[in-house]
Amino acid sequence: MKNLQIIQTKSLKGEIYVPGDKSISHRAVMIGSLAKGETTVNNFLNSADCMATVESFRNMGIEIESRQLSADGRQIIIKGNGLAGLESANGIIDVGNSGTTIRLMMGILAGQNFISRITGDESIQRRPMRRVAIPLRAMGASIEGRLVGDELYAPLKITGGNLSPIQYELPVASAQVKSAILLAGLFANGETAVIEKNPSRDHTERMLSHFGADLSMLGKEIKIRGNRDFRGTEIDIPGDISSAAFFMIAAALTPDSELLIHNVGVNATRTGIIEILHRMGAQLEVLNEEILSEEPRADILVKTSKLKGIKITGDIIPRIIDEIPIIALAATQADGVTEILGARELRVKESDRIATVASELKKLGAKITELEDGLVIEGPSVLKGASLKSYGDHRIAMMAAIAGLVADGETMIEDTECIETSFPGFEERVKQFIQ
Ligand code: S3P
Repeated sequence: MKNLQIIQTKSLKGEIYVPGDKSISHRAVMIGSLAKGETTVNNFLNSADCMATVESFRNMGIEIESRQLSADGRQIIIKGNGLAGLESANGIIDVGNSGTTIRLMMGILAGQNFISRITGDESIQRRPMRRVAIPLRAMGASIEGRLVGDELYAPLKITGGNLSPIQYELPVASAQVKSAILLAGLFANGETAVIEKNPSRDHTERMLSHFGADLSMLGKEIKIRGNRDFRGTEIDIPGDISSAAFFMIAAALTPDSELLIHNVGVNATRTGIIEILHRMGAQLEVLNEEILSEEPRADILVKTSKLKGIKITGDIIPRIIDEIPIIALAATQADGVTEILGARELRVKESDRIATVASELKKLGAKITELEDGLVIEGPSVLKGASLKSYGDHRIAMMAAIAGLVADGETMIEDTECIETSFPGFEERVKQFIQ
């Protein structure tokens, strides 16, 4: 088991890049594999999760070349065979720890004229799949799995083909469920519509448009017309704002800091973290914004900040869902109470993040109360180094490491291999700031 030892830092100064966006990297492989012809993807995230997606498509007969261009960035070239170009996988498809891979793949496999089996690691086998199975069954796919009470879990068996379009209003704000339906819609005869009350990340929609698929968006409704081939293209992936968030907050919380993070994706469905930090009083600027491959990106400059507690609830929750662990750390250093409400979804992420955030921050001396659907944090408190656990959850491990930069003395984090699922090179980037 790998452990990470972090000591308090005096300041964070300098410039960094973070690796490519995880959500966009998955979608580039999936949609590139369904396109006709070659797709080149630059700054593809070389992480365990995204490589699980690459391996799944290789397993279904898609040729994918991968060139290592830097320690954590790759260029991949996908030779897509069109919508009808996948072959039945050899054996069971294993997505490792990747929730995005299994849920989005369910949509694609639902459209195939063959039977597929798909599973993942222990954490994947504990994550709810019924939310994806319900709309896909309504389109005509058969999805079987392990049933516990009403809930459906992997391993899953998917018998696809012959899909009919549906009109579906999402009961949970989930980009994974929305994307699974849109991807299945590529194989349906006619127009599939998804209605989303509360916007979640829209990378699938943007990527499908970038490839020239027949997709339209009007208000809260997204429509896709099926059985239309589209051609391969070139994609430039911005840095992952969810990875950058750890360093934004590290710089805000440590004295005498000024950190410039280059080329961060600033798609409005992901920038909740910037809004929250501004509301908390952070000194944060978004600079040099440009759009490439339909996705905006910018440099983000963060300086040492005096933060204040705020109430976080409502529409913003899906736009900060992966950043809540690190926001909770920021709240321990803010003046006053921070309330995070309406975030029950955190209970079914890679770990139960309401429970794991509360337990680890408490060990450092934070005043934090667990609610059924959120957290209440009373700040500021002086954090003291301690021995922390990751629970095999990358974002808990990274939150703990950043807490270690802020806490007095030494912090030890157990079981940190999981960081590789989204942020290869994290440890080196953190250690460069330990003087
Ligand atoms: C993701 C969507 C979110 C997020 C996950 C990535 C995606 O999950 O938590 O890390 O790439 O679509 P939900 O859609 O289940 O909220």
